[in-house]
Amino acid sequence: RLLPEALARRLDLHWLGECASTNDEAMRLPLPDPGRLAVVGADRQTRGRGRQDRIWQSWPDASLTFSCLFAFPPGTSLEALPLAVGVALARGLQALGVPGVGLKWPNDLLIAGAKVAGVLIEAQSRHAAPTRVVVGIGLNLELPPDFQPASGLPATALAHHLAPLPPREAVLAALLERLDAVRASYLAGRGFVPWRDEWNALDAYAGQEVAVRDGERELVGIDAGVDDTGRLLLDTASGRIACCVGDVSLRPL
Ligand code: ATP
Ligand code: BTN
Repeated sequence: RLLPEALARRLDLHWLGECASTNDEAMRLPLPDPGRLAVVGADRQTRGRGRQDRIWQSWPDASLTFSCLFAFPPGTSLEALPLAVGVALARGLQALGVPGVGLKWPNDLLIAGAKVAGVLIEAQSRHAAPTRVVVGIGLNLELPPDFQPASGLPATALAHHLAPLPPREAVLAALLERLDAVRASYLAGRGFVPWRDEWNALDAYAGQEVAVRDGERELVGIDAGVDDTGRLLLDTASGRIACCVGDVSLRPL
């Protein structure tokens, strides 16, 4: 009911009471026909994860945890997909009236500088078969008063920035509409290019000094935005460096 008619017709939504991780459930779904959007959500996730097996914490009734399964023809470029997904989520929150929405490279969604949501993308491709891409999203609707993540940015929740808090289904609908646009754009082979300017406009650290850690190496420079392939451009003392998305972390200085 909350979804635009055209999207509702294309959506296969599976809602579970409990599961370990909606990303695993989505990966197991039958492949959706091209043009359809398959989504698995759960009231309660017992083993939600972030990148590099970090833990994503969620609470029944206070968190929105779901994963979309996209099917792309073999060879479709997935370049910078996490960044395009970030733009879709940011636009979804803005459409609900949330102020101060920003993005942290490569995969975090912020409100007023604190982390409100994370994105975990996993892909599986077998020779000549469509590539399965699972886009998992965890968003804090509310937070227990004593919760703070062990490391990284402070956490925030939608309820701290939006009153009254819309029903969970309304938040999901606002996000799915824009995630489906990302799916269609990558399916059409347009990749990240159409999303780049919007990403840069939402970059929470644009023009600020940041540190990018890649394994043992840490690079410090001014965040100059992302290029057409989603690499973060850093203006350092020894010139401009492009950082690839990988097991790379950014922190503000
Ligand atoms: P990076 O920038 O490298 O992605 P990150 O700290 O954002 O670093 P991720 O793997 O993206 O790391 O996200 C997982 C991290 O998110 C956890 O290590 C934890 O610090 C934090 N976290 C876990 N649950 C929540 C939550 N509900 N809200 C906000 N932050 C959370
Ligand atoms: C991050 O910040 O690193 C990403 C967190 C992603 C969490 C979501 S919750 C739904 C989906 N299932 C998971 O196990 N992870 C993602």
